[in-house]
Amino acid sequence: MTSTTLEADRSAEAEGQWAVETHGLTKRFGQNVAVNGVELLVPRGCAFGYLGPNGAGKTTLIRVLLGLTHADAGTMSLLGHQVPRHRDLALARVGAIVDEPRFHAHLTGRENLEVLASARERAARGRIGPSLERVGLSHRADDKVAKYSMGMRQRLGVAACLIGDPQLLILDEPMNGLDPAGMQDMREMIQSLVAEGRTVVLSSHLLDEVERTCDAVAIVDRGSVIRQGPISELLAGASLTLRIECSEPDRARALLEGTTFEAQIEVASDGLGITLPAGTSREVIAEVARLLVEGAISLYRLEEIQASLESWFLQVTSRLGDE
Ligand SMILES: Nc1ncnc2c1ncn2[C@@H]1O[C@H](COP(=O)(O)OP(=O)(O)OP(=O)(O)O)[C@@H](O)[C@H]1O
Ligand SMILES: [Mg+2]
Repeated sequence: MTSTTLEADRSAEAEGQWAVETHGLTKRFGQNVAVNGVELLVPRGCAFGYLGPNGAGKTTLIRVLLGLTHADAGTMSLLGHQVPRHRDLALARVGAIVDEPRFHAHLTGRENLEVLASARERAARGRIGPSLERVGLSHRADDKVAKYSMGMRQRLGVAACLIGDPQLLILDEPMNGLDPAGMQDMREMIQSLVAEGRTVVLSSHLLDEVERTCDAVAIVDRGSVIRQGPISELLAGASLTLRIECSEPDRARALLEGTTFEAQIEVASDGLGITLPAGTSREVIAEVARLLVEGAISLYRLEEIQASLESWFLQVTSRLGDE
């Protein structure tokens, strides 16, 4: 085989389907398994949330991916390049913020980016202005970083990623320390990067943020990924919740309790809350309405409550507790 075909093979391999792929990835600190046999498949061109509580091993996983600390076992690749073997090739198109972005406080935002660009390819310098513009920092670019708010530092962190024109951004807790408006900006920025075809992997302990920002998620607990996939698919495994406004809630409950379908029913002053198990056919909703109307209950409102990732997450973790 000639060296040309080898190169071609390598680039075909590098165009693989996954932005991040890990198998059996493990990192221990003494007895503590911070990353435990993680199998991660992050599709390209999406926003992917690595979601878990404090101490779940999110930062450690990111540090391992970036080669900042070595794995004890397992394999991984970024953008189709095996790391650590082809680490430089992989990291050339990866931008990352781990923990808090760190900058020289006595330099301006622009000067900080100039320092970073000088360590990169020539084109990086030309991306400084557009990157600052992109993150909405142009008007403060010539102020010293010491005077920046937390939100401005986070934005500068994203600008620092962008000067490398990354295909993959890995952001450790990008919402940390941001106020609601700052979170909204960060979310929009992430979504616009994804709209350009980039992949964004972010870690978070905020379920709500991941649900609003990401297309897919891996849920991690004590180092292990317990579920992963598109958020919509994961939610399809959640229970179905109905909120009903009706007359005579107690009699309404009695009517429904005498039926065949499995439901948990709670009585409120103005109606019922009904939880049906995952996989329940939506026909049951029609059946509930029919039973109430036939029982001469006045039905004012019947609403299917969209399961949030949070309630789903609680279901998953409480099931784990049972096991
Ligand atoms: N350098 C280290 N030395 C020893 N233990 C460590 C080290 N770094 C992390 N750990 C341990 O590994 C586990 C995972 O920590 P990690 O920082 O990855 O969690 P995290 O999910 O990022 O948490 P947080 O939400 O608080 O940022 C914790 O039990 C932590 O104490
Ligand atoms: Mg962390």
